Amino acid sequence: MPNAKIAGIGFYVPDQVITNFDLMKVMDTSDEWIRERSGIVERRYAKKHEETPTTMAAEASKKAIERAGIIKEDIDFIIFATLSPDYYFPGCGVLLQRELGITKTEIGALDIRNQCSGFIYGLSVADQFIKSGMYKNILLVGSEMHSMGLDFSTRGRAVSVLFGDGAGAVLIQATEEDNKGVLTTHLHSDGTNAEELAMISPGSHGGYHLQDEEFGFPSKEELGEVFVYDGLLDNKTYYPRMDGQLVFKKAVTKFPEVIMEALQKTGYTPADIDMLVPHQANLRIAQFVQKTLKLPDDKVYNNIMKYGNTTAASIPIALCEAWEAGKVKEGDLVCLAAFGSGFTWGSALIRW
Ligand code: COA
Repeated sequence: MPNAKIAGIGFYVPDQVITNFDLMKVMDTSDEWIRERSGIVERRYAKKHEETPTTMAAEASKKAIERAGIIKEDIDFIIFATLSPDYYFPGCGVLLQRELGITKTEIGALDIRNQCSGFIYGLSVADQFIKSGMYKNILLVGSEMHSMGLDFSTRGRAVSVLFGDGAGAVLIQATEEDNKGVLTTHLHSDGTNAEELAMISPGSHGGYHLQDEEFGFPSKEELGEVFVYDGLLDNKTYYPRMDGQLVFKKAVTKFPEVIMEALQKTGYTPADIDMLVPHQANLRIAQFVQKTLKLPDDKVYNNIMKYGNTTAASIPIALCEAWEAGKVKEGDLVCLAAFGSGFTWGSALIRW
């Protein structure tokens, strides 16, 4: 059975740097509050009308493809994880295929909507496709453009200051080498608190429906409001909302749990980890996880200070930075872990 190795990796972040001080100009917040609570100093925002999740993903993908030493025509399958797609539909997978100029149609494109754990879910799917022998080269990307959908008024500050834009990509390739690539992946979900970290609209939960009319078809005036969801404008349900403390409490439990699950499955202990790359949600969460697992500073990679939370893109961006800095080397045991909206969470162990 082939193993799935990361043969190439790349990331892209927009040039535009937005500091905490920039946010202080539009909302009641402070550099001190943001740093203390989250560790974030600055984040990147994409250029409106020029960059989208797909264009950023394409930049990251080109690097991953080149570093893998393949050509784009070698790609068998695209997996695109994002919560901020270019369109409501179709998904970004096909848009990325087009953006990369891949014209062959013997290729599949799958979109993943698992928010902060989207990359790990995508990695797990890719691993299964490779191990089953169905595909040899899979392009997996996480890309987000949060800046187009945040509430920049003081009302939205608890969420908006945390998020940034960017993309990360990996080229996952079949290899016959033993003890190489993805060793194990673990996925979890619990929908009990689905709305506690969510963007509710647009969605089919509300809106105007012909069946709303007891007698016949809606009037012309009513048809004019067909896209105005119940309470959407008043409640601002088109902005993300989060019960930060609930998310924090769940995250600090689930991160160590799911990492230990991966270690136990493969017979390793925390001391065997060469590099832990946690989803970059909050520096305090990552530090808590580090302390729980008793890992030294040089075995945990964090970059939330520079980019904020880039959701599905955060793990591949951090992993790529760590690799470029020589902190992830051939033969290393790399652990990835994420927790986020859904709630969903997961982990992966990779022999680099
Ligand atoms: N600037 C200044 N003040 C802010 C603020 C901001 N950007 N956002 C919220 N506040 C205020 C609140 O209004 C509140 O004021 P009050 O005490 O007068 O009511 C106070 O700060 C504390 O708010 P609270 O929400 O209790 O803060 P917190 O300590 O829980 O920190 C988070 C908030 C979001 C940083 C924290 O809960 C967290 O990191 N949660 C996990 C987030 C996460 O990981 N999300 C992504 C999951 S993938």
